[in-house]
Formats: sequence, structure tokens, C-alpha cells
Amino acid sequence: MTSNLQSKIYVAGHRGMVGSAIVRNLEAKGFTNIVTRTHVELDLTNQAAVEAFFETEKPEQVYLAAAKVGGIHANNTFPAEFIYQNLMMEANIIHQAFVHGVKKLLFLGSSCIYPKLAPQPMREDALLTGKLESTNEPYAIAKIAGIKLCESYNRQYGQSHGIDYRSVMPTNLYGPGDNYHPENSHVIPALIRRFHEAKVNQLPEVVIWGTGTPRREFLYVDDMAAASVFVMELDKVIYDQQTDPMQSHINVGFGSDVTIAELAKAVGNAIDYQGSINFDPSKPDGAPRKWMNSSLLANLNWTPLVPLRAGLALTYQEYLVNKDKKYFE
Ligand SMILES: NC(=O)c1ccc[n+]([C@@H]2O[C@H](COP(=O)([O-])OP(=O)(O)OC[C@H]3O[C@@H](n4cnc5c(N)ncnc54)[C@H](OP(=O)(O)O)[C@@H]3O)[C@@H](O)[C@H]2O)c1
Repeated sequence: MTSNLQSKIYVAGHRGMVGSAIVRNLEAKGFTNIVTRTHVELDLTNQAAVEAFFETEKPEQVYLAAAKVGGIHANNTFPAEFIYQNLMMEANIIHQAFVHGVKKLLFLGSSCIYPKLAPQPMREDALLTGKLESTNEPYAIAKIAGIKLCESYNRQYGQSHGIDYRSVMPTNLYGPGDNYHPENSHVIPALIRRFHEAKVNQLPEVVIWGTGTPRREFLYVDDMAAASVFVMELDKVIYDQQTDPMQSHINVGFGSDVTIAELAKAVGNAIDYQGSINFDPSKPDGAPRKWMNSSLLANLNWTPLVPLRAGLALTYQEYLVNKDKKYFE
């Protein structure tokens, strides 16, 4: 059922990269009643505060894009925070949404829910078929719990209360609002920062860890937001045909991947870095390939609009505008 443009929609995590893109997408579509709270205004790990928020605002729909997110270093150093905070946010929001009559909810997971050795490209049915990557296992377990919370509430209360809680699993994302922290950012923002600094300081080369041969998939965040709204708005009959009550999540990928060397060249071009790009094969490469199978979404006629080159140019423009703000430190 397509939502009414006046529906009251709560976007949790609206200041994050994905949440802010979801708000942009909803506003561009004409939705006029979007409710938000900053982390300071509402700590989503606080059960009583989340209950009071739902009691006061009574949203009709929820996009759950709030999470404690970080790279390998942060996940390894703070595993307790990653599992506890993510479980609490999901449990509080999904339960209070149910209690307060929210009929439609979309939970955002991550490709790290899939086993470390899942066949590539990773299909939705690879979930729970093997051991997870150990570095972010606590985070991945929390994300799997989020999917299972949605499924369990649907199974128990879907018929009686008319609820329909769905999940999407994004591939690696990039775009405006990304995190450019020197030790704690994903590969695209890390490369943008390094190439930009090399250009400004007229360095003759940028050296990248590893061989440059691993393949990775990247999706521009506004495409992710578009896919999120698309899945939320999908007719229930079609969603139910494509999913199973105990395997209800949908992958969201770009559809193809690139090598790290190709990515580095594309970032260098976006920044107009004139020096050379070299690789240090003595450093670890990580998994040879991480790629989502997004054919389920493609069969529903959703395709991403922003190719890597255009997405990198847009991302770099935003980096230039915002790089001196504290958010990017
Ligand atoms: N970025 C990617 O490449 C990627 C890839 C796959 C999946 N995802 C998924 O997409 C979702 C959003 O990711 P993102 O990249 O947009 O992350 P992000 O930029 O870090 O945004 C997360 C947001 O959640 C908020 N938040 C965290 N803890 C909170 C709490 N206790 N109470 C209230 N708000 C809280 C953060 O606020 P503060 O900053 O103020 O704490 C932030 O605004 C996550 O579920 C993530 O797993 C992201």
C-alpha cells in the first residue's frame, strides 16, 4: 500500500549518512510529516525514553537507520558497545513501534550478516549458513537479531495487528555525510581524504595497502535511500511473494564490483590527483571478493541510478565544502 504523503514518519538516525539520505528522498517525494530526534535529544538505548517518544509522537511508520557503526579497529576494541547498543536500539524501537501501533517499519542491516565464506555473490539465503567474520561478529549478531525481531513480530502479530516490518541489507555505501576519520573510516572516504591531502601537499605518490586486486562493491547513499523507500512502499502481496516469513531481508547492492586498484584510480580522477598510485603488497588484502547478489531487488525493477564515477564526484564536492567541520575530524 502506497503511503499517504501526510503519514507521520520517524527516521531514526537522521543525522547519519543513510538516515539523512532517507530524509532527503522522502522530502523530495513530497512527504511532509517527518519526525526526527538527535542522539542528544533521544538516546535510543534508553528503553523508557524510547517508550515516551513513541507515546508522544505516535508515528505511523519508522525507518530504523540509527546504529553504532564503525570500522575493524572500533569493532575489535569496543565489541561490548557494538553488540549492546545495537541490540538495545533495535529492541527498543521495534518493540515500542509495535506497542504504539506502527504498521510499517524498515530495518537497515549490513552485508556483514553473511558468513565469512559465503558463496559470491552473496544471496539472501546465505544468512545463518556459516561462521561470521570474527572482527565484527558482535555487530553482525546484533544486525541478525534486528532482522529476526522484525520477522518474529510479523509472525506473531502480522495477522492480528496488521504490522509489516521489513529489512534491507546494504552493500558498502558512500556519499555525502560519510565519516572521514583518519583511523576509522571506510575505504572510499579514506581514499578521498588521502588523495586530497596528497594533491594539496603536492606529493608525488599515494601508496595503498595490499595488492589492489580485491574486489568490492559500492553503492551511492542516495541510491540506498531510494531503495529503502522503494522496499518500504512495495505492495505487501509482492513483498510476501519475494520473501519468506523467516527469510524476509532484501539485499541492496550496485550489481557489480571493482578492484581496489580501479577504485583508487577513479578516486584519483575525481580529485584530479596528478601523482602516481602505487600498492604495498606486504600489507594485508582482506577477503578477495565481497559482492551482494541483488537480483531479488532487480527482479522487482529497482536499479541504482548513480554510477561510481558520478557518485565519487558528488562525494568529493561535499567533502570540499564540509571537510573543515568537526564532523569530519
Ligand atoms: N555506511 C555504510 O557503508 C553502511 C553499509 C551497510 C550498512 N549500513 C547500515 O546503515 C545504517 C546507518 O549507517 P550510517 O552509515 O548512516 O551510520 P552513521 O552515519 O554513523 O549514522 C548512524 C546514526 O545513528 C545515531 N545513533 C547512534 N547511536 C545512537 C543512540 N544510542 N541514540 C540515538 N541515535 C544514535 C548516530 O548519532 P551520533 O552520531 O550522534 O551518535 C548517527 O546519526 C546502519 O545500520 C549501518 O549498519 C551502512
